[in-house]
Amino acid sequence: MKDKLKEITENTLERVKSVLTPEELNEIRVKILGKKGEITALLQNMKNVPAEERAEIGRIVNEAKQTIEEAIKKADDIIKEKRLDEEIKKEKTDVTLPATKITYGHRHPNRVMLEEVEKIFIGMGYEVVHGPEVELDYYNFEALNIPANHPAKDEQDTFYINDKVVLRTQTSPVQVRQMERGKIPIRMIAPGRVFRADEVDATHSPCFHQIEGMVIDENITFADLKGTLVSFAKRIFGEDTKTKFRPHHFPFTEPSAEMDVTCFKCKGKGCRICKGEGWIEILGCGMIHPLVLERCDVDTQKYSGFAFGIGLERLALLKYEIDDMRLLYENDIRFLGQF
Ligand code: DAH
Repeated sequence: MKDKLKEITENTLERVKSVLTPEELNEIRVKILGKKGEITALLQNMKNVPAEERAEIGRIVNEAKQTIEEAIKKADDIIKEKRLDEEIKKEKTDVTLPATKITYGHRHPNRVMLEEVEKIFIGMGYEVVHGPEVELDYYNFEALNIPANHPAKDEQDTFYINDKVVLRTQTSPVQVRQMERGKIPIRMIAPGRVFRADEVDATHSPCFHQIEGMVIDENITFADLKGTLVSFAKRIFGEDTKTKFRPHHFPFTEPSAEMDVTCFKCKGKGCRICKGEGWIEILGCGMIHPLVLERCDVDTQKYSGFAFGIGLERLALLKYEIDDMRLLYENDIRFLGQF
């Protein structure tokens, strides 16, 4: 039995030396020391060993087990260390390589433009307010002197939720909501999304943005309107910008006008941007119609006011010389990254 044990031990130690993986080592452990292992099988013969030799054999068996156990552990440690070394070698990083560039997001051209406009008006003492995008027909049309049979209400232009509710087609309803709060004087701008049933093309989108403006106080005249909008235009397009007010019609203002600015590109000579006109229309405006004021319980004997509506995309397209509005909505980062 002693000889057999010696043989098993020597063979095992020899095998362990040439093993390459922890899995193989484990196989050996099970085969020699496991429940059905060779040494365990040997121990079953103990009953045949004379009683006086048993203690000694027991000691030898334990020693053999320990020797094998230690050899396996040692081999296991060596294999694992070797693997780790190899992995570290493979992962070696070259710290002298240039770092990967971090790309930052940035504001959309519409937002850059809006923030510029807001800054100008806040500087003149205006408050920035917001109204709902899903609006009552009353605020979007009726209260603004746009009666039921007015062509602006045409189903082809307006997204109707039902008879009384629409997606607002303009930011002008915010004027009415602000007046209804009953606090005068008012100096406000109301930027936001508006919706019209338009086909998408280079200059139209079913969803775009306007910036509404309104001032109501004592002694507000057309001179205040002009002074405000002329200085706004100069701030946006440069000090040498000239402006022109053309008579126009809006149901909720009287008199009404559209304001043109000299083309910032050709300074009025005529070019591709202004389509040879030298002038570019940027907003609609006028003195708030007395009927609109009265409907909102504003005392027209005491107060008067002006209002204006600016197309945000129009400003952004002009400012950045973009010739197709669709580019603003397609969110192609190759385009957006240029601003
Ligand atoms: N709401 C008008 C539109 O969408 C623009 C406008 C014109 C607004 C004159 C005004 C204004 O406040 O006074 O066409």
